[in-house]
Amino acid sequence: MRVRRCAILMLEPRETLGFHLALLADGGSGLQRSVDWVAIAPHRRDETVVTSTEREVLVDLSPSEWIELEALAAKHPHEAIETLVTKELVIAEASDADARDRQLRETHWRPAAAVAHAASRWRGVDTEAADREFAEVVEETLLQRLGPPPPPVRERAPASQRLRLPVADATPLDALLAQRVTCRNFDASRALTQAQLAAVLYRTYGARAVDDFAPGVQLLKKSVPSAGGLHATEAYLLVRRVEGIEPGLYHYHPIDHALEPIRRLDRDEAAALARRFVAAQSYFLDAPVFVIAVSRFGRNFWKYRNHAKAYRALILDVGHLSQTMYLAATELGLAAFITAAINEVDIEEALGLDPLEEGPLAVSGFGVRARDCREIEFDPLHVIWKKD
Ligand SMILES: Cc1cc2nc3c(=O)[nH]c(=O)nc-3n(C[C@H](O)[C@H](O)[C@H](O)COP(=O)(O)O)c2cc1C
Repeated sequence: MRVRRCAILMLEPRETLGFHLALLADGGSGLQRSVDWVAIAPHRRDETVVTSTEREVLVDLSPSEWIELEALAAKHPHEAIETLVTKELVIAEASDADARDRQLRETHWRPAAAVAHAASRWRGVDTEAADREFAEVVEETLLQRLGPPPPPVRERAPASQRLRLPVADATPLDALLAQRVTCRNFDASRALTQAQLAAVLYRTYGARAVDDFAPGVQLLKKSVPSAGGLHATEAYLLVRRVEGIEPGLYHYHPIDHALEPIRRLDRDEAAALARRFVAAQSYFLDAPVFVIAVSRFGRNFWKYRNHAKAYRALILDVGHLSQTMYLAATELGLAAFITAAINEVDIEEALGLDPLEEGPLAVSGFGVRARDCREIEFDPLHVIWKKD
């Protein structure tokens, strides 16, 4: 059997501090420090810890050249090699791990970006429960706990030296921008019309033209800019209350301006998935539709191979999509949100996405804003929530 190291691997010497009363009684600080070598390898689902002996094997093994297992076993303990094969950090030729490792290679991820992406994916996180638990153990205010934040603006010259710029005359764009306030109070009794859903989707994700840029290379023209004109980020929908559309999961086809059904959901399933998708942030759960921004890494990295900026460019693309969706919804008198606190792994599983090739970077949603403000929104100018 031939083996090689997996393509992308980060070994992090992760410190854990434990508190032990006995150590305190002995006159110390009470803290015990331990360090684990944590392996992050994006072709695997989860992190795994390796021993120092296993680490030596990994450092010795090439990710590009296959070698016979016996040759490796001549230099390193057999047990460590076997464990590494089980952990899929040492890849056995023609195994399942080999298939996934090859797929990762062929997607042309930049290693640091692949590790960052893998390390930031959540499964089953409940942010509200985590916040509650934290509040129970820590009674300090944010300021006591974190100290003062950096100032709101980095000032590079005294006020007297600043070149004051003219104030632009107010335009309809200003009025629209002023109305954009992230919504955390949706009206659970109101549905979207199909026309509202369609308009927001088209203005954000819809393709206005398909351009034959070169033989076999098609670019899309949309309302938003996109790195390389590739528009590698597409919209998936979790529909809860849209007139004439069954609750369920859908993919938006940006050229046909059409919804592709993935799975129908009953009300309870849809509610449970919504909660799961946004890591239990309850204030978003009354939104009638979630729009999940899913980046197709393979499409962007086809051009920007192993590129230092490619993953960043994808994230920037999602920012443009988000703001455009906010504005498109706001223009219709609706309200929107975005969150990055999402359970990527749960979303991937629900939508049937292969995480090596495509994955969610954010979840947005929009709908009718409720009349009552139950959850705080950031509206210091009282544009939405008038002062009593
Ligand atoms: C990338 C990004 C991630 C965000 N994630 C969350 C989130 O997890 N939960 C949340 O309640 N709001 C989230 N927000 C919304 C911000 O809290 C909000 O934009 C901010 O409070 C300013 O309010 P405004 O959008 O009304 O101006 C996010 C915004 C952005 C741009």
